[in-house]
Amino acid sequence: MSLTNFPYEGKAAAAPTSRLTTKVSMPALQGMKREGKPITALTAYDYATSRLVDEAGIDMILVGDSLAMVVLGHDNTLAVTVDEMLHHTRAVRRAVRRALVVADMPFGSYHGTVAEGVANAVRFVKEAGAEAVKVEGPRVELVRALTDAEIPVVGHLGLTPQSVLRMGGYKVQAKTVETLTQLRADALALAEAGAGAIVLEGVPREVAAAVTAELEIPTIGIGAGPDCDGQILVFHDILNMTFAPHAKFVRQYADAAALIREAVEHYREDVEHRAFPTDEESYHLPAAVRDATNALVAISERSA
Ligand code: KIV
Repeated sequence: MSLTNFPYEGKAAAAPTSRLTTKVSMPALQGMKREGKPITALTAYDYATSRLVDEAGIDMILVGDSLAMVVLGHDNTLAVTVDEMLHHTRAVRRAVRRALVVADMPFGSYHGTVAEGVANAVRFVKEAGAEAVKVEGPRVELVRALTDAEIPVVGHLGLTPQSVLRMGGYKVQAKTVETLTQLRADALALAEAGAGAIVLEGVPREVAAAVTAELEIPTIGIGAGPDCDGQILVFHDILNMTFAPHAKFVRQYADAAALIREAVEHYREDVEHRAFPTDEESYHLPAAVRDATNALVAISERSA
């Protein structure tokens, strides 16, 4: 916030709609599945954008490790650390009133012992205010231990970006009878271990539909077709802010890159042409002080 952006009484922030008044919890997402209501989810990584996403009525905000790429400029998600994820989760937490805030456990933070995974997950809840954590892959024992530790967990199966080195790139998964059978078994095992929801990424529509029909917990799809219980996309993807061609499953809802570029160019031109700031955008001395100052200037000019 600009230091000169003094708030003044009477100018309140936009009033939230009635939709925004009920806090979303993991059981609430499960209730939405039972009622056949689509779950909306989006990633977000900082205060301002999370606040907008929350005010727009999105049910679940994931502080995704995709921030490694879209916010920090890495080539993949592997480099982001627990401390970096905590830093962003705290900012999101401060902004969000309604949505369920889920923190992505980054690569390396749960790939050792189950105890290490639980200890890192506890940090997301205790130090950053996360209301659930997300872990990639069929880490059934970890999900059971997190559930025992009272930490809601979102699983993530199919194309798991933290497996990029093993997979040899980002490829649609579960395309054979063997691999789709394995994915189905993994999903059932995660649910049985206590996962509250499962993200299905980069899998054929038919596979996502079958798993969704079989599970009692919600599936949140990304590149998994329309039959999941909910959908999630990356914030920067839907706004054209990734500087890269987007995947087939991404729908771009606005061109924020063009909007920002245009606004910044306009500002630069105004400064270069001395069109900014104007007199109206300047502070002025009180009339009495101005008159006294003018008098002093006049005296000093006369005596010079
Ligand atoms: O980090 C991420 O953005 C994700 C996706 C499911 C959106 O994990």
